[in-house]
Amino acid sequence: MKSISRKIKNEGEKIGFVPTMGALHEGHLKLVDTAKKYTDFIIASIFVNPLQFGASEDLRSYPKDIHYDAKLLENRGTNILFTPSDKEMYPEEYDTSIELPKLSSALCGATRPTHFKGVCTVVCKLFNIVAPNIAIFGEKDAQQLIILKKMVADLNFGIKILAVPTARESDGLAISSRNIYLSSQERKDAPVIYQSLMLAKKLIENRERNAKKIKDEIRNAISDKLTAKIDYIDIVNKKDLTQVNILEGEILIAIAVWFGKARLIDNITLRIP
Ligand SMILES: Nc1ncnc2c1ncn2[C@@H]1O[C@H](COP(=O)(O)OP(=O)(O)O)[C@@H](O)[C@H]1O
Ligand SMILES: [Mg+2]
Repeated sequence: MKSISRKIKNEGEKIGFVPTMGALHEGHLKLVDTAKKYTDFIIASIFVNPLQFGASEDLRSYPKDIHYDAKLLENRGTNILFTPSDKEMYPEEYDTSIELPKLSSALCGATRPTHFKGVCTVVCKLFNIVAPNIAIFGEKDAQQLIILKKMVADLNFGIKILAVPTARESDGLAISSRNIYLSSQERKDAPVIYQSLMLAKKLIENRERNAKKIKDEIRNAISDKLTAKIDYIDIVNKKDLTQVNILEGEILIAIAVWFGKARLIDNITLRIP
């Protein structure tokens, strides 16, 4: 992979990189579309990174269909699919990790304390291997995007990070590989996440500025659904992910909810006038 990407760059082409964990869906393909718009040569990777899963999480059952994924990527104009093995990425003597402790402890970090260390470590390795000009990530994983942008700045990667808006089902549910875990009742209930974000947006448009009041309204809406188990509902400053009490500036409203075996996340960004 390294020698191919260096050769392509030497030929004067710009490389766009889309890292994924496979089980691809329209959200991932939107990232490929964006890569195509800004670069000449598209490299996607599929690597289910064991480092970013907690001990009790779904690493073993994470959905896999590499041949179908490869077809989808090819049809959308991906030039190379990179699929390293666990052993290649983390040989026995592997020892290095990359961590941004401040940004990684907020939001998802509270219940997934080692997740972003795993994400940063793998993305750092993938960036060194693929050496893209531009890397593309989804806004669905807002905290990931903020952390990776900071990592790239802190470590002088010289790679431009592009963000792509969240692709949604027609009822608003953010598309995710984990949606296949949902039972039919859970699937019916899950759009409440996005509905509650839209409710929050409306409250803010109607001049509500008290974060607690907004979070309570979101909590009430989600609690209405019997299959929902809230992990967190947070309103934070988008720059440093610190809690906001009275809304101002650019804020991120982020939610994680369990529906059965699936832990689903979603978020919106708002600029308070
Ligand atoms: N619905 C979506 N819309 C836009 N981007 C998405 C969506 N779902 C995932 N992505 C992006 O795809 C990339 C790989 O995520 P991955 O973990 O493989 O997918 P998923 O979150 O569906 O399990 C990340 O940059 C993620 O933000
Ligand atoms: Mg994911």
